[in-house]
Amino acid sequence: MIGAFLIAVLALFKGEESPYNSSPCKETKNTEAYNNFVHRHVLKKGFNTSSTDDWEDYLTEQNLCGRPRQSFIDVGAEILYEEICNGFGVRQGGGNLCTSTCKVRLHDLNVTKTKSTTSGKNCTVYGLRSEYRYVTVACDKVGSQCLPVHFNSSQINMPENKNGTCEAQGSEGEQKISTSHWFQFLQMTFYS
Ligand SMILES: *[C@@H]1O[C@H](CO)[C@@H](O)[C@H](O)[C@H]1NC(C)=O
Ligand SMILES: *[C@@H]1O[C@H](CO)[C@@H](O)[C@H](O)[C@H]1NC(C)=O
Ligand SMILES: *[C@@H]1O[C@H](CO)[C@@H](O)[C@H](O)[C@H]1NC(C)=O
Ligand SMILES: *[C@@H]1O[C@H](CO)[C@@H](O)[C@H](O)[C@H]1NC(C)=O
Ligand SMILES: *[C@@H]1O[C@H](CO)[C@@H](O)[C@H](O)[C@H]1NC(C)=O
Repeated sequence: MIGAFLIAVLALFKGEESPYNSSPCKETKNTEAYNNFVHRHVLKKGFNTSSTDDWEDYLTEQNLCGRPRQSFIDVGAEILYEEICNGFGVRQGGGNLCTSTCKVRLHDLNVTKTKSTTSGKNCTVYGLRSEYRYVTVACDKVGSQCLPVHFNSSQINMPENKNGTCEAQGSEGEQKISTSHWFQFLQMTFYS
């Protein structure tokens, strides 16, 4: 009885701790939300992304060994993520999930923390897969911009546009990312 009560309280507490808002482009108090997202999902430098060894070094160096399933895009490709939350992503259902309408080269990997650090690596990487996929994120307003703050999933199929786009609703001095950035991104995707 008490156990069930505790579980209910814990579940409630966990619910309140949701790392993002329940619909897109609502203000977040966490000013580091976007920086944290970039740290976890956008590579800071180029390396051999086919090599699990190089991945292990990168995750160790960036202190990113902690999560068992991870997804990254290449250096510079964060423009796509920003566009998803600024009119170029489609909303999935009634919650805060927005999917890109353009594919991005995504690296998915499984990570296990290593017990011994004698190898100089704090984790082991396996199940590495790199392919072009549509990505789904949650968008919050960080400062004056609507930006991705949580990575949800990725998919092979083009998303259907059933519930409109994700963007801040017209207001005071929104800094919308210009379409020129979008074309720059497309060029980057198709020519790199
Ligand atoms: C990258 O790593 C893969 C897997 O270890 C290896 O086969 C390939 O030769 C490496 N490429 C370069 C350019 O070092
Ligand atoms: C790797 O793990 C060891 C042992 O837990 C820790 O002392 C070290 O700071 C970690 N390295 C990095 C870069 O986080
Ligand atoms: C679209 O979003 C609204 C909330 O904004 C929600 O009530 C509705 O169920 C959503 N429609 C679909 C098809 O997901
Ligand atoms: C990596 O993790 C995912 C999700 O937990 C799982 O479905 C997949 O089978 C794992 N890959 C490998 C190679 O174990
Ligand atoms: C992705 O979103 C769905 C629907 O809200 C949720 O059930 C799932 O746990 C989310 N996955 C991640 C990794 O956030």
